[in-house]
Amino acid sequence: MKFGYFDDLHREYVITQPDTPLPWINYLGCEAYFGIISNTAGGYSFYRDARLRRITRYRYNNVPMDFGGRYIYLRDDESKDFWSPSWQPTRNDLKDYTCRHGMGYTVIGSSYSGIEAHTRYFVPLGENLEIWQLTVTNKRATKASISAFSSIEFCLWDAQDDATNFQRNFNTGQVEVEDGVIYHKTEYRERRNHFAYFASSEPDASFDTQRDAFLGPYNGWDKPAAVVAGQLTNSIAHGWSPIGAHQVKLDLEPGETRQIVFVLGYHENPVDQKFDPPESQTINKKTVKPVIAKYLDPKQADAAFEKLRQYWESVLGIFQVNTPDIHTNRMVNIWNAYQCMATFNMSRSASFYESGIGRGLGFRDSNQDLLGFVHMAPARARERILDLAATQLPTGGAYHQYQPLTKRGNNDIGGGFNDDPHWLIIGVSAYLKETGDWSILDAPVQYDNQPGSEQPLYDHLQRSFNYTLSRLGPHGLPLIGRADWNDCLNLNCFSDTPGQSFQTTTNKEGKVAESVFIAGLFVLAGRELAAIASHRNLKDEAAKYLAESAKMEKVTLKDGWDGEWFLRAYDDFGAKLGSKDCKEGKIFIESNGFCTLAGIGLEDGKAASALAAVNQRLATKHGIVVQQPAYSRYYYEWGEISSYPPGYKENAGVFCHVNPWVMIGETRLGHGDQAFDYYSRINPSAREEISDLHRCEPYVYAQMIAGKDAPSFGEAKNSWLTGTAAWNYYAIVQWILGIRTSLEGLEIAPVIPTNWPGFTATRTFRGVVYKISIERKGSGNQIALTVDGSPIKGNIVPVPSDGRKTVTVKGILS
Ligand code: BGC
Ligand code: NOJ
Repeated sequence: MKFGYFDDLHREYVITQPDTPLPWINYLGCEAYFGIISNTAGGYSFYRDARLRRITRYRYNNVPMDFGGRYIYLRDDESKDFWSPSWQPTRNDLKDYTCRHGMGYTVIGSSYSGIEAHTRYFVPLGENLEIWQLTVTNKRATKASISAFSSIEFCLWDAQDDATNFQRNFNTGQVEVEDGVIYHKTEYRERRNHFAYFASSEPDASFDTQRDAFLGPYNGWDKPAAVVAGQLTNSIAHGWSPIGAHQVKLDLEPGETRQIVFVLGYHENPVDQKFDPPESQTINKKTVKPVIAKYLDPKQADAAFEKLRQYWESVLGIFQVNTPDIHTNRMVNIWNAYQCMATFNMSRSASFYESGIGRGLGFRDSNQDLLGFVHMAPARARERILDLAATQLPTGGAYHQYQPLTKRGNNDIGGGFNDDPHWLIIGVSAYLKETGDWSILDAPVQYDNQPGSEQPLYDHLQRSFNYTLSRLGPHGLPLIGRADWNDCLNLNCFSDTPGQSFQTTTNKEGKVAESVFIAGLFVLAGRELAAIASHRNLKDEAAKYLAESAKMEKVTLKDGWDGEWFLRAYDDFGAKLGSKDCKEGKIFIESNGFCTLAGIGLEDGKAASALAAVNQRLATKHGIVVQQPAYSRYYYEWGEISSYPPGYKENAGVFCHVNPWVMIGETRLGHGDQAFDYYSRINPSAREEISDLHRCEPYVYAQMIAGKDAPSFGEAKNSWLTGTAAWNYYAIVQWILGIRTSLEGLEIAPVIPTNWPGFTATRTFRGVVYKISIERKGSGNQIALTVDGSPIKGNIVPVPSDGRKTVTVKGILS
């Protein structure tokens, strides 16, 4: 069952029914000001940091989970009937409801008693504000007197404190209202130099800023007392809960359309210019007023929208493909790329599954996100890499997360996840392959953000690699530390205290528990680093990295091998995980996926054997599960993984992040059909028809789909903010379609399904447009390439040295 449809031409998903199985959201903003918006206008906004600079309020554990948002009410001032064109919060019986989620904008609208209304929400590029353009049309044969009310609830900035510290917060709220603009200035009188504002393009008939005055003490948002009365009360909030609400009166002739622009924004003043006059307590509005005036002008709002559209056109234009499969085209050309931008911006901080108060930017996560993002905004990727590296510890280890506002490592979470440092090598390598910007390696970068500790980025990569070399276990495999990619494999944790966090509690300084997954990652990172070193002419170093990788590969093939597949780990007692000898958790996806992706066991048949075992034991129709058999009880010595009921999350759920490792492994074996089959099983668009089962948005990946051991097998959770976005993008684009960045140029090595006659693609790479067409003449993966009509050797198309800006590449597969 579907709840809408893809409009690929406009790059939109159009939801046609407001009561989707879960709120289906979109993100507004792509630089510093961000918002989440659901298909019924629920959601909140923040500036840079979802916790520390929350602009509008979100109520945790709300029902439904998107409740509270950017709500508009329309009221027929004659009949006194009122409704919300976005369905929530009034939930009237609307006609023609649609929500169009597009690239950086959402339009929600409907008709009700002859009044058609829709609102376009977006954040203009380069601004710290959001625009709501409400368009109202009178479709009646008679005149209509309509009041339009806009409403938002301000958050008192620190979202965690806002949700808990009521004894203080009920006393601090402050606003100003000037020329109809509502300014939220809680704590501006003391240490903050920022405030929020909410403005309307039409003169206010009235306004409200105190929540109780607007709602009435016992009403909900579905029936605000002031809307019922048809008149806001001009309340000025002091303490309690500041809100912003405007009332605009519209007298509409039959057929007449009017537009109102509402602008909600964030603004900072220099610390010494906070007040005007300086000795007063009144906000200095000199620099904000022109911004507000500009965007309240509908023409300027339209122009800003057009710029946003062009921005996405050019960003997405960097890679476009035309294959025989619509789901591939749609995800690669539009939604998967778009989701990669969201994960880059948000990391794992703010969605309806990530609370925006818990997780900052993950070291591991943000590095991996680069794989799907770097081509879209290399300059921002560069900045991110340098920020991440600056939080690295002198040991080469890493804080697991950093806070976006301070860009400092997060002490509460700490470090000790022994895979973390290697992801920096993978991220930097992806950046170099995309851009050829070798200067990044010489950029001076601090350790642990300590001034004076600056070393070239390259030094950070060396320490990342050496981190593992000095942390090897009894078999010579990497020690796992707190955990590896699988945050829930806590082999040094031993927690028996209810509610204790597996992620942060003190762990044993274990010297026994080893990770075969990190071994695979180390081998890959070592080879990437060797390629970087040889490019810099550091031959001895390159040789060392290759030798260490080769050694680790050998150890992996010996002590990391279980006979038919790769082991997952050794625990603190030296017992195997992911072995045929285990009662539960006999085989895991991560080590088998990553080792084969890294090329381990390609020659001696072990990779093929491992992936055959994955296919036989882990693959399901809804994707590949993490392990089997699922853990049926809690294992104290293995940690959080066994805390989940079977089939969920790391305990045998389909973790969509790691499925692409198997897809890539399959391409390395030349198995295009199998790789694409796995790709399609979790492709959200390909699952659109089962939206009633899948439940999450059909246009973006979810982190997890419940595995076969769960009663809700096939149901997705944790959509949007997941490494799944980058990895699936990377797997389909670089390994299945085989259009792969390399240090030397653009590599073309498709491993596509045998029944595809070919495909075409356009890729802008290092300033050159590559027009690529691949034609299948045989059923294999051998490719013969011509570039601008001349055959070339091998499959790397170098960047033209003669200044050509467009190159035509033809590939024949045989
Ligand atoms: C989840 C992991 C997640 C970790 C992060 C765990 O509870 O299962 O998927 O990475 O928390 O804190
Ligand atoms: C989600 C986390 O963000 C990611 O870092 C981790 O690798 C996976 N969960 C698996 O535990």
